[in-house]
Amino acid sequence: MKILPLIFLLAAVNAFAEPQKIRPGELWPDNRGLHIQAHGGGVIKLGNTYYWFGEDRSHDNNPEKRFVSCYSSLDLARWQFRNQVLTLTNVENLQRDWALERPKVFYNAKTKKFVMYFHLDGALPGEQGGYKLARVGVATCDTVDGNYQFQKSFRPLGHESRDLGQFIDDDGTAYLISEDRPNGFRIFKLSEDYLDIERDICLVPQHLEGGAIVHYNGLYYFIGSQLTGWDPNPNKFATAKSLAGPWSEFKDIAPESTNTFGAQSTMLLKVSGAKTTSVIFMADIWKPRAQWDSRYLWMPLEIGDGKIHLPPPQPWMLDVDTGETKFLKTQKNEAK
Ligand code: GAL
Repeated sequence: MKILPLIFLLAAVNAFAEPQKIRPGELWPDNRGLHIQAHGGGVIKLGNTYYWFGEDRSHDNNPEKRFVSCYSSLDLARWQFRNQVLTLTNVENLQRDWALERPKVFYNAKTKKFVMYFHLDGALPGEQGGYKLARVGVATCDTVDGNYQFQKSFRPLGHESRDLGQFIDDDGTAYLISEDRPNGFRIFKLSEDYLDIERDICLVPQHLEGGAIVHYNGLYYFIGSQLTGWDPNPNKFATAKSLAGPWSEFKDIAPESTNTFGAQSTMLLKVSGAKTTSVIFMADIWKPRAQWDSRYLWMPLEIGDGKIHLPPPQPWMLDVDTGETKFLKTQKNEAK
């Protein structure tokens, strides 16, 4: 083999073996070199593999339909496109600007089905436009990355439901976090087959959306964003010993003036490794006029003893085996 191809080959092998960097706010190419389309997303882990589902807002999508895509990864940094897992037509006969947002997928070990929840919204014919329907949509599939089939839409226990979040507790119990505009946010336990809501665990009378929960060292931590649409705001957190509450006072996760560094919460992902446990704040940096180009802010949180702090976004690396995270040397640090 000539020297040059060999160097390229070694570089490629090396790039694969090396832990990859996560770069908040930058384009995040998948294995095809395309920016990942998994906005307002959620991640689940099956075996060693992580699956990331989210809104596919590709520029060339059919504007009549709405799409969810799925990607897989072994290290949470390099993602392989799997499938556009849901293609939804306007099943509820809503006005043109209807929305499918914040899809979250749960695996039900009893039924062996994958159950996707999403926020389905829009206005019915004759209504003034906007997010009026306020329902969840449910779609199911026999495989993680197959073609999900729409099942139904409804308001959980009759309550308005907009932004959705997903939480799976350490004991495997599955919960849905839902923004109920007149009242606050709710935590629902899913039914045994996950196709319905079993009961309302808690109503927190705080107007927050983009809700995310993690169970860390015996405490539940909730993060949510305030109701400012696509515009960023200071995201807030609270803690509780039980999901049913009482929840502590809400505090900012980052300096108020940064507006959460321009991002909005979507999920808290716990990575438990052989050495430590890290919690990743997954958030979206929306570009409402160019949604396909919306970016992701994934950062390891400083978390513990009832506190959360989101460090300023910077490139970092994660070792999913040990659970350790490492910030990369910036020029500023190097100069010290
Ligand atoms: C945000 C919400 C997004 C989307 C947007 C529409 O607050 O988190 O998912 O619904 O409003 O304005």
